[in-house]
Amino acid sequence: MIRAAADYLKSRLAEWPRTAVVLGSAQAAFAGALDERMEIDYRHVPGWPVPAVEGHAGKLIVGRCGGTRVTVMSGRVHLYEGWTPQDVTFGVRVLGMLGLKSLVLTNEAGGINPSYRRGLPVLITDQINLQGSNPLVGPNDNALGPRFPDMTRAYCPEYRERAKQAAAELGIELGEGVYAGLLGPSFETPAEIRYLRTIGADLAGMSTVAETIVANHMGIRVLALSTVTNMAAGMQKELSHAEVLETGQAAAGDIIRLLTRVIPRLDA
Ligand code: HPA
Repeated sequence: MIRAAADYLKSRLAEWPRTAVVLGSAQAAFAGALDERMEIDYRHVPGWPVPAVEGHAGKLIVGRCGGTRVTVMSGRVHLYEGWTPQDVTFGVRVLGMLGLKSLVLTNEAGGINPSYRRGLPVLITDQINLQGSNPLVGPNDNALGPRFPDMTRAYCPEYRERAKQAAAELGIELGEGVYAGLLGPSFETPAEIRYLRTIGADLAGMSTVAETIVANHMGIRVLALSTVTNMAAGMQKELSHAEVLETGQAAAGDIIRLLTRVIPRLDA
């Protein structure tokens, strides 16, 4: 299925960008600001998982960001919706086959580190996969990557430096921290958050870790930015999806400015 999707995309566009961005719903406006845009609906691509969110079906957008060609995946699917780890990482695999070298992931997360605040953009430095699955389980395709990929530099240290530099230039406060990827869809309990803090997590979220594993498997370098949409369970009165959406929207401007500045600096 991955090859069929890659063949289809190749038939629509001969040369695919070496950089891609996966956007959370709050950052959809980033794609709208790209120059020389071309769009492909996920549902036209063989095997591509289509998010079941009303209003936007999910699409691939190819365009230019400050002169650099970039593919945007607007809309993603999650394990908690019942998709498999292979579905969740399908897009990264397909773009990887089309020559992707740099992957930027954005997400919304709960803040575990007490120095964070709602709305803070945080650079992910490392991850803890607590989703109970790994997208590499099963036979390994040696043509794609090794059986046992190294995850020592899961989030590219050079990219992190470039992102920090860009944030400093823009006067955007940028936190740094370790992202714990959970299955969801229930938010964590306060006891789970205390456990996560103890094991070294600064952020809790329900995406990103599987995509990062697959990218590392294929030798694609990863940069990831979380928006702290709420402080984690037990650190504020209660949690709601409405708050996640509202804070995500309110903070999207900073993330979009940061993406716009850093993406042209990722092409190695
Ligand atoms: N926990 C897990 N995922 C999240 C949270 C949270 O508190 N906020 C936004 N995504």
